[in-house]
Formats: sequence, C-alpha cells, structure tokens
Amino acid sequence: MGRGGRRWRVLHLTVLAAGLLAIAISSIDGLPIWTDDVLTAIVVLVAVVFFGEYLVRLWAAPESNRFAGLSDGMARLRWALSINGLIGLLAVFPVLAITFSSIHAGNEWAPIFCVFWILKLSVHAPAMTTLARVIANERATLASVVIIFVMVLVTAAALAHMLERELQPKVFGNIPESLWWAVVTLTTTGYGDVVPKTVGGRMVGSLVMVSGIVVLALLTGILATGFSEEERRREYLRVWDQVTRVPMFAELGTVTLSEIVSKLRVRHYPPRIVVVRRDEPGDSMFFISEGEVEVRLPRGSVALRQGGFFGEMALLDRLPRSATVVTTQPTTLLVLYASDFYEVAANIPSLVEAVEREARRRRAENQGAPAKVETP
Ligand code: CMP
Repeated sequence: MGRGGRRWRVLHLTVLAAGLLAIAISSIDGLPIWTDDVLTAIVVLVAVVFFGEYLVRLWAAPESNRFAGLSDGMARLRWALSINGLIGLLAVFPVLAITFSSIHAGNEWAPIFCVFWILKLSVHAPAMTTLARVIANERATLASVVIIFVMVLVTAAALAHMLERELQPKVFGNIPESLWWAVVTLTTTGYGDVVPKTVGGRMVGSLVMVSGIVVLALLTGILATGFSEEERRREYLRVWDQVTRVPMFAELGTVTLSEIVSKLRVRHYPPRIVVVRRDEPGDSMFFISEGEVEVRLPRGSVALRQGGFFGEMALLDRLPRSATVVTTQPTTLLVLYASDFYEVAANIPSLVEAVEREARRRRAENQGAPAKVETP
C-alpha cells in the first residue's frame, strides 16, 4: 500500500471511530439537550464522508482488475452488488434515518448504524477474506464437525427431556425446550438458568460438557490450521512477487526458485531503520527487492540497491556483524535465516558461490581498498 493509501486508511478509521463513539454516547440516557445536535452533526458528517467514498469507489470500479473485460456500467453494477458495495451503501443509511428523526437516546435506529459502520472495518481486515477462504477450503471437515455437534446436541436434548421432564416440566417439557439447555451446555457457556436435577440428567450433562470441549477443540484446530496454511500460501505469493525483482534469483529454474521462495520472508522497512547493527550476532541475511540501504563502514558508507544483498558475512564467517546497515528509503527486504541459508547452500550451490564471491570481495575491500558506492 502506498503512502496515499495509508493516509486514506488512517482517515477512514478515524472517521469511523468518531462515528461509532458519537453513536455510543448518544445511547446514554439523560445527556444535556445540546449534545443531541453535536452528536447528530457528527453522525451526519461521518455518513456524508462514507457517501462520498461510496460514489468514488463506484465511479472507479472499472479500474479494478477484478472487473477487467467488463463494460464500465457492468463493472459499476457488479461492484455495487458486491459485499463491499452493499456494506458501503448501508453505511450511508444513517443520513436517511436522521432525516426523519434525531440521534438522541431512544432513536431505535441508532444502534443499527453501529452495525453497518463496524462492517466497514472489514475493508481494513484482510483476515475476513482469509476467514472466508478458510471456511470455503475446509468446508468438508467443518461440515463433519457440525454434524457431530448436531448429533450430540439432539441426543443430549432428547435424553435430558426423558430424564428431567417430571421434575422440571417447564424447561425440559419437550425436546425443543431441552435444546436450549443442550446448546448452552455443549458450547460450555453454562448460563446456569436451566440445571439438570436428577442423577441421570447430571450424568448426561457431564458427558455433554466434555463433548463440548472436544468439539470446540476440533473446530479451533481446523480453523487455526486453515488460517496458517492460507497465510503460508499468501506469503508464498508475496515472496514470489518480490523474488522476481532480484536478478540473482531470476537466473534460477522454476523448481529451484520455488524452493528458495518457501525459505524467504518479506519485510517492509521505512527509511532510517537499522536493519543490522555492527558487532551484534547475526542469524540472517537480506536480499533487497526494492529500495536502498546504506552499509556504514569505518572507512565510509556504501549504498546497496535493488538486487543487492547484505548480512551474508556473519553467516559465512560465523562472526558478529561487520557493519551497521540502515535503510535510506522505503525498502523491501527478503530475509533468509541461518538455518535455511545452510540448507540452500547444500541445494543451490551456484547461488551461495555467488554470495561467497561477493563476501570475499567485501572482506578484501574492508581490509584495504577504499570503499566505493556499489550498484548491483
Ligand atoms: P554482516 O557482517 O553479516 O553485516 C553487515 C553487512 O554489511 C555485511 O554482512 C555485508 O553484507 C555488508 N558489508 C560489509 N562490508 C561491505 C562492503 N565493503 N561493501 C558492501 N557491503 C558490505
């Protein structure tokens, strides 16, 4: 995301927070009468900003890669009917509601603005997209767990109804009513409003509680694994995209490239950040896929740009860092950790030979010849 995008995100989140705060305050009873006008003004302003945003996004929809090949009108229609388009439209809804009534406590529409606006947060939460993909990927496994959940639920409700109905006819009088107790117990919520009183009912209750823990653990495990796999896939694509900018990797075949891609991590740095510090132990080396760094040596500074690398000497010599390296502009680095470096050294000798050659040249330079600006 560029600087403009980041600024818009901060502004968007600030406007959203102001709107939500105004609605939350407006729901308090007994506020002075003047607060009504102020809060109404804030909510209208927020909704107007969101309306402006909606129109801009609608207008710009044909620019999106998602709608490539469609006519402008069709692209706009598809965006308007997408989840983001519908959420954007709903977020404008408060203006209409306020036109007919004010925001003060007692306005039954006010809490619903909160829901529409909080949905807009999903635009800034890639985790929502990830969650949707994880659910889609794992639907078969999740469906099996849901079936187990329903089986335990219905069995528990039926047994509890059978065992408890005489003592507690109001809450266990029929299976649908017993289901409430079964859901509260199986999800380990336990409100305590309905409690089995017979020995049999309590034994069923105990089994349901334990099953609840097992079912929730299964769900958590499936979602957590799905999340980490999805994240791994996304990271792989991110790294692949960055790796193609480093000429050293471009010469490798696809199979070798995919091996190194799985070992690299993408890190973005703003300017003036110390990436490695002289005399500190080193456990990784870095390839520059975008931006520039400055290597600060006792004899002067050396600039390394896109395609260059640093941090290899500590790994090869197993010595502390020989220099401090600082970013001079927004920089994207590909990090290769020591353990992976030695594995790469065994599997892709040509790459490590090139790194070793450059390290030898740098050592010689540091010991004798004056430092000069290097362009890879
Ligand atoms: P390392 O010693 O791990 O950490 C500092 C890094 O600065 C070092 O690895 C090299 O990658 C880099 N470096 C050291 N000397 C030079 C040099 N003369 N020219 C370019 N880079 C250097």
